[in-house]
Amino acid sequence: MSIIENALKKAGSKGLVIQDNHENSSANLKSAVGVGDVGVNKLSDTSVGSSSERQVVIDWRNLAESGFINNNNAKSQLAEEFRVIKRPLVNNIQGAENNGINRSNLILICSSLPGEGKTFVSINLALSIANERDKSVLLIDADVEKPSISKQLGVESPLGLIEYLEDDKVNFSDILLKTDLPNLSIITAGKRHKYSTELLSSQRMYLFAEEVSRRYKDRIVIFDSPPLLVATQAQILAELVGQVVLVIAAEVTPQSVVNESVAKLSNCDVVMTLLNKTRKEIDIYGHNYGYGKYGHL
Ligand SMILES: Nc1ncnc2c1ncn2[C@@H]1O[C@H](COP(=O)(O)OP(=O)(O)OP(=O)(O)O)[C@@H](O)[C@H]1O
Ligand SMILES: [Mg+2]
Repeated sequence: MSIIENALKKAGSKGLVIQDNHENSSANLKSAVGVGDVGVNKLSDTSVGSSSERQVVIDWRNLAESGFINNNNAKSQLAEEFRVIKRPLVNNIQGAENNGINRSNLILICSSLPGEGKTFVSINLALSIANERDKSVLLIDADVEKPSISKQLGVESPLGLIEYLEDDKVNFSDILLKTDLPNLSIITAGKRHKYSTELLSSQRMYLFAEEVSRRYKDRIVIFDSPPLLVATQAQILAELVGQVVLVIAAEVTPQSVVNESVAKLSNCDVVMTLLNKTRKEIDIYGHNYGYGKYGHL
């Protein structure tokens, strides 16, 4: 049993396992789902939802060269794997009224440490969901200290999340970027701000999350975030969303670190752990999981 498997067992998670084998690496991905508790809050914010959004064009070539899902190759192993990864998240949204998950359409992608693959997973998950014709996705770069979504997608915006949070004259429509992928919109991180942690934990951020979740029930919102154990911001964001994906770098992240992150996420409704960058099939609790198969931890 690997160190990660022990951590997942301790977290009491249910799981699924898939492998990633995209052209530029032999990385694999494994995930597991667990359920906890989070409070229910009701607020309203009329600043969300105008229709004057700007449109940007994604640099598809750069994305493909960087090993992301390629829209011209819908049958690639990576694309198949993200179909599997997104399914439990989407199912939780569709069944949210029955399973009691609050703000289930808000999904935070986090990890314990830098470089574990949060941005890689955020973008691929957004692309994968946006490719489903009946689902729209809003990808938000909430890694406000070290933003990389706009660079990775090759898009720019004068206004992002930070500008929205610090100035109540900035509207949701001012920061929303429509893209040339019809179902995908983006919000960039915005400028560096020395009080970014305070802004992310502000009432305005809370209202933003509540409003986006309530008004746009059919829109799936994905937040890329800073590392959980390096800054407090991811933990703050985790309290706002209905589902959390904890990305874990296989054979790199020590079990004690994973345990620490799992503990920080103990108030979240749903925590999916996603083992990233593995190089072989992993035997979990006696079951040998391969590509596209679900299992229970
Ligand atoms: N499964 C994977 N297969 C191939 N490359 C990957 C995979 N996961 C991550 N990478 C690559 O590893 C590097 C680090 O990933 P990424 O930037 O997504 O990490 P991060 O957790 O967002 O880091 P940071 O905390 O610095 O924001 C990137 O070059 C990314 O493309
Ligand atoms: Mg990142």
